[in-house]
Amino acid sequence: MSRFSLNFLPSASISADNFMSFINVANVVGAVMFVATMAAMFYFAFKYKQKNTKDEGEYLPGNYLIEFTGIFVISLWVAVFFLWGWRDYSYVITPRADEAEVNIIGQQWQWTSQYASGRTYTNEVYLEEGRPVRFVMTSKDVLHSFYIPEFRIKQDVVPGQFTSLHVTPTKAGEYNIFCAEYCGTAHSKMLGNVHVLSKKDFQAWLDGTYTAPAKVVEKLEPKANRTMTMAESGAHIFRTKSCVSCHSVDGNRQVGPTVKGLFGKEVELVGGMKVTVDENYLRESIMDPMKKIVKGYAPQMPTFRGMLSDEDVNDLIAYFKTLK
Ligand code: CUA
Repeated sequence: MSRFSLNFLPSASISADNFMSFINVANVVGAVMFVATMAAMFYFAFKYKQKNTKDEGEYLPGNYLIEFTGIFVISLWVAVFFLWGWRDYSYVITPRADEAEVNIIGQQWQWTSQYASGRTYTNEVYLEEGRPVRFVMTSKDVLHSFYIPEFRIKQDVVPGQFTSLHVTPTKAGEYNIFCAEYCGTAHSKMLGNVHVLSKKDFQAWLDGTYTAPAKVVEKLEPKANRTMTMAESGAHIFRTKSCVSCHSVDGNRQVGPTVKGLFGKEVELVGGMKVTVDENYLRESIMDPMKKIVKGYAPQMPTFRGMLSDEDVNDLIAYFKTLK
């Protein structure tokens, strides 16, 4: 880290390192500009101080060279800062090939994390050091904002849709999750922990043999200790909520489109619009099935609003992802 760093907060992700290099340069440039401007101001104020009441300044019509140089240099900096910021922001919104996925559900006033294995935690997130991860987030009630200061990432969590963030934790340790959007009485208590584990510890965690430092032992037990993975639970919901009566899982056409190979596919809708099937499309089609009708099918699916929880929807999506 640069010796000019004003970094009181540990950096624990690639985005945090990117962000700190940027902010350090911005601070140095800002400081240099400030000192230069102040020095010029004092110099001229003293040099051209009015000596007596008759002492009047010479009329200067302007100097194009100075003006254009100033405009050019400042515009250049603004452009550099924009492109630099854009590059760092792109990192947070771009998927990576080998990334893990963690579902996050915000609600008044706690965070739920859901893992493919079916493990579900309240206010605890476990990540592997060096492994890119995608947070797929939604809210049960109002707007929240998922904020991990040590990762320098923050994203609104919105009811009725999914938002995501891509991050690569770089340092094992325990970090904070804050809610950064005022969401009611206990907003300030909507706190959680991110546990970044070394490769070895993370494998142990996956196997269920991880022994945490004493301080966090009580948090290790998943709150809802499920026996099914997310995909298994999704398959169960698919059968028991009668999705299966209209949608096949083997590619056959029934009343509705098959869900085999659906995720990531481009489908054509009535009206000719094409959409790529992602988490948001699936969720919308479950909760608001009349909104986007797939071409060649009748609009007759009932809404599952109120019948499926956010966890159920996440499980179903996890199931669909397995039906390649
Ligand atoms: Cu949730 Cu503030």
